[in-house]
Amino acid sequence: MYEVETAYQLIANEMRMMEKLANETLSGVDPFVGEVVRYSIQFGGKRLRPVLLFLAGRAAGFSNGQHVQTATAIEFVHTASLIHDDILDGALIRRHCATVNVRWNVQIGVLAGDLLLTKALELMARNGELHGLHRLAEACRKTCEGELRQLGTVNRFDMTTEEYYEMIAGKTAPLLACSAELGAYYSGADNATAERFRIFGHKLGLAFQVVDDVLDMIGETGKAGKTLRTDLINRKPTLPLILYLKTVSSADRAETLNRICQNDFDEMAAQELITRFCESGSVALAKQEAERLINEAVDLLSGFNGNAQAITALTSIARFVVNRNN
Ligand code: IPE
Ligand code: IPE
Ligand code: MG
Ligand code: MG
Ligand code: MG
Repeated sequence: MYEVETAYQLIANEMRMMEKLANETLSGVDPFVGEVVRYSIQFGGKRLRPVLLFLAGRAAGFSNGQHVQTATAIEFVHTASLIHDDILDGALIRRHCATVNVRWNVQIGVLAGDLLLTKALELMARNGELHGLHRLAEACRKTCEGELRQLGTVNRFDMTTEEYYEMIAGKTAPLLACSAELGAYYSGADNATAERFRIFGHKLGLAFQVVDDVLDMIGETGKAGKTLRTDLINRKPTLPLILYLKTVSSADRAETLNRICQNDFDEMAAQELITRFCESGSVALAKQEAERLINEAVDLLSGFNGNAQAITALTSIARFVVNRNN
């Protein structure tokens, strides 16, 4: 199988340019401000959104300076969303380090996120190219709406799978969809091709969040590099729980909800329930749902006549999304 490392190697040059631009953009500021924003960016992460953007760019033609600028801006937006998300979720670890809210405090996290977001907008506006700026602004807006919508689902254990998908179609998919779409767009792709890549990124984004929610239950913190088990403890319904509640008897359902809603519901109690979800098959079912979405995403690529190497690389990245442990 074409390895995911090979996919990263294919765009190693573009990735280096992106890291360089990220560093340059965050230098020359007040030393304290620089320390805070560089702290969040420099420890990396998978850089999945830039990877998608560059590979979509290659698949649809070639990569150029506009790709590098846009990839950097999108990674800034993503990192800003993580800093704010960690505040919302009360998370302690991110990208193998203390979260900004723990290393400093919540106030600093709020402003560091805002700063990265505005740096991203500046980068996008640099060349006066409005289409990309518009699409990214739209993705940011949807991400905020999705995160806000999730806050409204706390304790809402009657959530349906449709509502769950609408919520993650807001909070996670738009930035991945925007990355793939703009990658193709800046390669001069026609509207239909840009739209094909947007839908590819959208489906991949849905699968990505489903797997993230599965990992929140069964992943290892050491591998994921972030605080896990926060969803259940914070009483945020996610797909494995929704599927479990749909299939069990009403007595089991009532007993499960009663446990989750108790004041002393902690990590140990959550672990007991997660074991039950695993045994019932609902965690595996959620993973299958992610696989189904990834297959749909990959099908969109197989019907596209572009750079074969880049398309194979995108397929590997899509497979990685469901098989990852980080
Ligand atoms: C985490 O995103 C947040 C979600 C959308 C689930 P990533 O898993 O892409 O985070 P990094 O960039 O690799 O740290
Ligand atoms: C966050 O979802 C998605 C964002 C838009 C940031 P999660 O809260 O599940 O992400 P992690 O697990 O903390 O990375
Ligand atoms: Mg979180
Ligand atoms: Mg969250
Ligand atoms: Mg998560």
